[in-house]
Amino acid sequence: MIDLAGKASLVTGGGRGIGREIALKLAEAGADVAICDIEPESAQQTAADIEKHGRKSLALKADVSNAGDVSTMFSSFLDAFGKMDVLVNNAGITRDGLIMRMKDADWDSVLAINLKSAFLCCREAARPMMKARGGKIINIASVVGLMGNAGQANYAASKAGLIGLTKTLARELATRAINVNAVAPGFIQTAMTDKLSPQAKESLSARIPMQKLGLPDDVANAVLFLASSLSDYVTGQVLAVDGGLVM
Ligand SMILES: NC(=O)c1ccc[n+]([C@@H]2O[C@H](COP(=O)([O-])OP(=O)(O)OC[C@H]3O[C@@H](n4cnc5c(N)ncnc54)[C@H](O)[C@@H]3O)[C@@H](O)[C@H]2O)c1
Repeated sequence: MIDLAGKASLVTGGGRGIGREIALKLAEAGADVAICDIEPESAQQTAADIEKHGRKSLALKADVSNAGDVSTMFSSFLDAFGKMDVLVNNAGITRDGLIMRMKDADWDSVLAINLKSAFLCCREAARPMMKARGGKIINIASVVGLMGNAGQANYAASKAGLIGLTKTLARELATRAINVNAVAPGFIQTAMTDKLSPQAKESLSARIPMQKLGLPDDVANAVLFLASSLSDYVTGQVLAVDGGLVM
C-alpha cells in the first residue's frame, strides 16, 4: 500500500492530461499537491478536484520556461507547504516539423518548455530537499528521447536532454537521499496525441507490442511508485511506460 500522507508535492503542467492524472493519483495516495500550469483555469480545476479528496492543494500560474515565474512559484509553494517532498516535471509541448522546415522559434520553445524548465525547477527544489535530506524528483521524458522520431528533432532532443539531466542530478543528489528518475511514456491518449490522424494512430498502435495507446493513468501509476518509499533504492533510471515499444 502506497502512503504519501503529508508529502508536499508539486506537479508542473498539472492542469490537464498526464499531469492532471499524476496530481490526482498522488492526492489519492494522501499527498498534498500543488499544481502549476500556464493555463490558470485548468490548474484551479485540478486543485479543486484534489481538495475534494480532502488534501491540501494550490493552483499556481507559471510559465515553467521563465526563471522569474519559477522562482516566484517556488516561493509561493514553500510559503504554503513549508517543504518540498516530491517534484514532478511534467509540463511539455510539441512543435513538430521536418528538420529542413523547422523554425528557430519551434526549436527554442520546445527546448525551453521541455528541458530548461526542468533545470529551473530542479535547481529550486534542490535546496529544500537537501536541507530535509530527502526528496523525489520525477521527470516526464518520452520514448522519443530514447529512440528518436522523424519530425520531432526538437522534441527528441529536449527529452534526451531531460534524461541526461535526470542521470546527472541522480549522481549529484544521491548522498542526500534524493532520488531523481525519469518516466518515458510511449504514446498516451491525451490532447497531445489527439492531434494525430486516425491513420497515424493506427500505424502507431501497430508498432506497439501491446497494440494500443496507453492512458494517462498508466503513466501516473509509474510516477506514484517513483514518488513513494517503494523506490527508495532506485535512482537515475528511465522507466518506459509504452506497451513494449522500446525494449
Ligand atoms: N501524450 C503522450 O503521448 C506523451 C508521450 C510521451 C511523453 N509525454 C509527455 O508527458 C507530458 C504531459 O503531456 P500531455 O500529453 O499530458 O500534454 P498536454 O498538452 O495534454 O498537457 C500539457 C500541460 O502542460 C501545460 N503547459 C504547457 N506549456 C507550459 C508552460 N510553459 N508552463 C507551464 N505549463 C505548461 C499545458 O497547459 C497543459 O496543461 C509532456 O512532458 C509530454 O512531453 C506525453
